[in-house]
Amino acid sequence: MNLETMQSAFKQVFGYDHEASYFAPGRINLIGEHIDYNGGLVFPASITLGTYALIRKRTDSIINAYSLNFESLGTISFDLDELTYDKKHDWVNYIKGVVKHLKAEGKILPHGLDIVVFGNIPNGSGLSSSASLEMLIVLIFKDIFNLDITPIQAALLGQKVENHYIGVNSGIMDQCAIALGQQDQALLLNCNTLEYAYFPIVLNNHRIVIMNTNKRRELADSKYNERRGECESALAKLQTVAPLNNLCEASLELLETHASLLTPTQYKRVRHVITENQRVKDSTTYLEQGDLQNFGLLLNASHTSLRDDYEVTGIELDTLVEAAWEAPGVIGARMTGAGFGGCSLAIVEENQVDTFIKHVSAKYLDTIGYEASFYIASIGNGPIKL
Ligand code: GLA
Repeated sequence: MNLETMQSAFKQVFGYDHEASYFAPGRINLIGEHIDYNGGLVFPASITLGTYALIRKRTDSIINAYSLNFESLGTISFDLDELTYDKKHDWVNYIKGVVKHLKAEGKILPHGLDIVVFGNIPNGSGLSSSASLEMLIVLIFKDIFNLDITPIQAALLGQKVENHYIGVNSGIMDQCAIALGQQDQALLLNCNTLEYAYFPIVLNNHRIVIMNTNKRRELADSKYNERRGECESALAKLQTVAPLNNLCEASLELLETHASLLTPTQYKRVRHVITENQRVKDSTTYLEQGDLQNFGLLLNASHTSLRDDYEVTGIELDTLVEAAWEAPGVIGARMTGAGFGGCSLAIVEENQVDTFIKHVSAKYLDTIGYEASFYIASIGNGPIKL
């Protein structure tokens, strides 16, 4: 699929030409997993895979949406004044959710539009195809109706759509990673204050390889909300002995001293949160020193912690990552995103990438029984009008 094919699809679906095109990226998270909703530091980056849209403004209040990823669904239509969640509206509920929350914030959307969407982020792969779509739709409305919205406001709006419209209790990382994306830079984001800084990712003869388990990760169906609940109840218990605003403010010493307050499961969840937050801090220190080897060891430690303490990996992600660890030319590897399927990433010497993929792919097929997919990630820009 390229833009020209999308243009002719637009004409075929709607009978006239589009007037503007837009793109919003997906994201990988280098390190800092499952700590955005615990007030921690995360270190994601926007990637060149993402979601494209072609649009034409209408004069009435209807939105007609067509996805080249779900052609069998045909055109799905709704009125800007009828924004109830509707299962039948499938992926278009993300557009409805964005419209609903823009309106709730007092933004005026004077008329509807026709829109054709195509995404090349593998669906349900943990590379944030839904946050990509949300940030794309915010950009389109911002552009065509001159709305005053900062990237952080766009991200917060996308999170509200997930939490209150779609029903996934996700944190702020994905939308911020996308809305604030910058080519060749990772984003060091403090999820408590939303302060952020950019970090050039200089990998000197190494590439980031994304490894997709091809096991779909459905956030809403997963144990994601359960993990959040476990963290919240552990925090409530620790707050009886320490003035904490979030779990990332706790120290390992505090955890050890008051371990008896927690169930063994809560103890492990909190240990992951505290050590992962520290790994993000250490990662940026190592990267500043150009020390890729030690950064790689932190990626490995992050995976182990997500596997053993947070328990969000599963056989598919573990097989990929453990095969990656033993492959030649690997600096480090870990799962990325929510877990329970989806993708892992590895940092691999450029001239070993082919051997690496061959090795991991054979091991995965042998153990799991179906193929994994591999992509070389490039860190690209945030949402843009094309
Ligand atoms: C999903 C959520 C994010 C974050 C990650 C785990 O991607 O949308 O908010 O919690 O999982 O780090």
